[in-house]
Formats: sequence, structure tokens, C-alpha cells
Amino acid sequence: MHISYVLYYRRDGEPPLINGWIPFLGKALEFGKNAHRFLAAHKEKHGDVFTVLIAGKYMTFIMNPLLYPYVIKHKKQLDFHEFSDQVAPLTFGYPPVGSGKFPGMSEHIQRSFHLLQGDNLNNLTASLMGNLMFVFRQDYLTGESEWRTESVYQLCNSIMFEATFLTLFGKPAHSSRHSGMVTLREDFVKFDTMFPLLIARIPISLLGGTKATRDKLINYFHPQRMSGWSNTSGFIKERAAVLEQYDSLGDVDKAAHHFAILWASVGNTVPATFWAMYYLLTHPEALAVVREEIHGVLQVSGIETHHNRDLTFTREELDSLLNLESSINESLRLSSASMNIRMAQEDFSLRLEGERSIGVRKGDLISLYPQSMHMDPGIYENPEIYKFDRYIENGKEKTDFYKDGQKLKYYRMSFGSGSTKCPGRHFAVNEIKQFLSLLLLYFDMEVLEGQKPCTLDPSRAGLGILLPTSDVQIRYRLRRS
Ligand code: HEM
Repeated sequence: MHISYVLYYRRDGEPPLINGWIPFLGKALEFGKNAHRFLAAHKEKHGDVFTVLIAGKYMTFIMNPLLYPYVIKHKKQLDFHEFSDQVAPLTFGYPPVGSGKFPGMSEHIQRSFHLLQGDNLNNLTASLMGNLMFVFRQDYLTGESEWRTESVYQLCNSIMFEATFLTLFGKPAHSSRHSGMVTLREDFVKFDTMFPLLIARIPISLLGGTKATRDKLINYFHPQRMSGWSNTSGFIKERAAVLEQYDSLGDVDKAAHHFAILWASVGNTVPATFWAMYYLLTHPEALAVVREEIHGVLQVSGIETHHNRDLTFTREELDSLLNLESSINESLRLSSASMNIRMAQEDFSLRLEGERSIGVRKGDLISLYPQSMHMDPGIYENPEIYKFDRYIENGKEKTDFYKDGQKLKYYRMSFGSGSTKCPGRHFAVNEIKQFLSLLLLYFDMEVLEGQKPCTLDPSRAGLGILLPTSDVQIRYRLRRS
């Protein structure tokens, strides 16, 4: 990418400004394509803090992870929700939460997040296990143990999407499965393909049939329809109750809020599951260790892996799967490219290490781009290589990583940071653990020969877990246990 820019200095203490990066349609994608390289090149030239003028916004990048804590702790002056409230409503189609029309809603919504965590996670985890087993049994644990072929992304998507949906939103009144799940998934993929453009604030009316697709997706969550669902999670029930308190929210607005949660809960989890599975399948030595670990835990619990019997994992058992957890975290390190953005609430001087500080103006965006940290050879040796046990040391989780001889407070940030850290992160990792455990217990799997290695599609850079550029075919069969 060729970028022409003029470099000059603004007020005293403000970071170098890279100007002239003229916004136009699709510019966000161009950034996406080269974000990691683009930022690395500017860091080389201008140091670890610089400002870029993007789409009329001043965005200051803090590139040195040793400086991250200084940004993250300024919760009041550097707010995440103001920015997300400008982008999310346009993307998902509900009225802005912080517009003044819905007093207290933002706080209510924040409070509901605890229903995804702590002791509440036990119920969610148990419910997910039942739903995973159900979907596996209906669609995959059938027939004899002959070899069958399948695409990995397709497999992850069909199982994780439906099992997550059932766990959070519940099931219809007179059936175990929702009708139209395949269409819902296909519509979701269509919408998700346009997601980077919507986040870049391209009006939905310019994006072909995307508006009609989104309307269909939103309608799936119409309150009347949802009222007939049972086994709905406490989290969704609580959100529905919060939304009910606001008379100015129409039924379609409420449905759009639920649709946003569907996106939050599967939009990143499905590609994350793909990468976790893909890396294990292409690293047989890792797969063998992880499989043995899972068998070990199950033996301790005395559970048979009989196909007709529901398996259960306790939280403690899931927590004890150290190798599996490290392998998932390693695949998250390699595939995540979310950007952490905060908006300055006032003009102030952001204190960095020692005597160093930078001037920030009200409305400026401060941005952390953890992919640069995840791929920093000064922190991670051979960062481009998958090392399934990178996060294990002396039989325990490894948490000490260093840069320039200093211990890092933040070394893996796939789930964001500080007060806006993803509230679903523990649930998500448990989901991936449960899914992979079932797969490894039930199936022999092999990647079919002659396929290109999967690479990361950079078009969602800044927005979460990157998708693969292509799918990969495997053959699988029931294990004879
Ligand atoms: C591997 C899977 C996932 C990844 C990588 C992921 C990542 C993220 C990230 C990066 C953020 C933004 C945080 C920030 O900017 O500081 C976020 C927010 C959020 N995530 Fe996740 N997430 C995942 C799964 C989930 C799941 C399963 C749920 C729900 C069940 C969920 C619910 C949310 C919600 C509600 C927010 C918004 C939080 C807020 O407004 O403060 N996520 N997630």
C-alpha cells in the first residue's frame, strides 16, 4: 500500500501526526488489509506513540504494550462505550443507548453481564454441554463408523452456532430445535460478510440486500416469538426484562438488541473454534497430548465415552484441562486482531511511564492494537509458529511474559481489556473446550491431503477473530472406544 503523508507536530506534547490518509469508501478495508504492517512501519519511523487522521478522526496508537496499563486504567477519561454506541446501533439497527432517550439502560445492560460469569457460568456450561451433545447426536453421531468428509469451518459453524443459540436464547415451545436454523445461519454469514463495512459506517442502504438480510435476522427475535421459547438463559431473560422497561423501544428495536447479542456470542466464537480445531488437526503431536489429557480427566470422573450417554464436565474438570486451554489461547493469539478503542472525554494529559505524557484532546480516539503485541518476537519467540504449550510452565499456566526485560501486565488481549473486557470470555473458552473435547473423544479425524494451508483473511482486522481465507476438508469417523 502506498501512503502519502505529511508529518508535522501539533500542540506541545501531542504525538506525531500522520496526516493525509484521506478517507473514502473502503478505506477501512485498506487499513484492514495492512493494519499490522501499516502500524509496524509507522512505529519504526515515529516511535511507539503516534496519531493517524482516519476518516476525520484523530486516532492515537499506543504501540508499546508496556504502556497499555496507562491507557487501560484511565477508565473515566478514556471511555469505550461512547465510541461503541456510535457504531453498534448503526450496525445492528437499534437506537443509540446513550442518546438520552433511555436513561439508565447502559448501566442495566452492563450489570446483566455478570450473568455470563462466576457461578452463573456453571448453568451455562451445563446447558451448553446438553445442547452440544444434542446437536452432535442429531447431525454427526449417526450411522456406522465409516469415514465421512466434512469442511472444518462448516462443522464448527453448524454445531457451535446452534448449540450457542439454544443455550442463550432457549428452544421453541414444542420442539427441541428451532425451525429455519440453517437459513438463520446462512443469513448470519451474509450479514457478517458485510460487518466490516457497516462498522466503517458505510450506510446499509448502499450495501445491496444487506438491509433485507438484517431485517430477517432481527425478526427472528421478535418479542412475540421469543415469548414462546423455554430454557432461555438468565442473561437473555434479564436483558429482555431491561428492554421491557423502556416504552420508547419498539418490538423491532428490542429484537435488534437480541440480534446484536447473537452476533457478539457467535461472531467471534465460531472462527475462534475453527482456528483452535485447525491448529490441533495440523499438529498431531499437540492433538495427541490434548486428547490424552481429556481422557485423563474423564477417567478421574469415571465417565464412559459411550455414544448414547450424555457427558458432563464440571467447571473444575474444564479448568484442569491445561494443555487444551493453552492450545486454545495459542490459537487465539495467532488469529485475533481486535482493536481496543477509547474516546477521550476531555482535553487532558495522558501520563505514560516516568515523566512521559502525551496531550489528548476531547473526542480523540486512543487505540491499542494487540495483534502487534501478539506477533512481537521480543515477547513471543518465533511468534508466527503455533506452539500449543506456549502458555504452560512447570505444569501450570504461564503468565510471565517480558518485553525489554520488564514483565508485561497484558500479554494476550484477544478479549479486549480493562472495564470493557468481553463479558463472555470465560463462557467462550469453555464452549471451545467442550466442543473440542467431544470431537476428540468421539472422532478420529484427518486433514485430507493436497490442500493449501489455511491463512488469515485480513478483512476483519481490528474487529475480532480473523476468518480463514479458505476452508479445509477433513475425513472423520466414530472412534471405537
Ligand atoms: C472467542 C470468542 C470471543 C471473542 C474473541 C470476543 C471478543 C470481544 C472483544 C474484543 C470485545 C470488545 C472489548 C473491548 O473493546 O474492550 C467483546 C465485547 C463483548 N462480548 Fe465478546 N468475544 C467472544 C465471545 C463472546 C461471547 C460468547 C459472548 C456472549 C455470550 C460475548 C459477549 C460480548 C459482549 C456483550 C460484549 C460487549 C461488552 C460491552 O459493551 O462492554 N462475547 N468481545
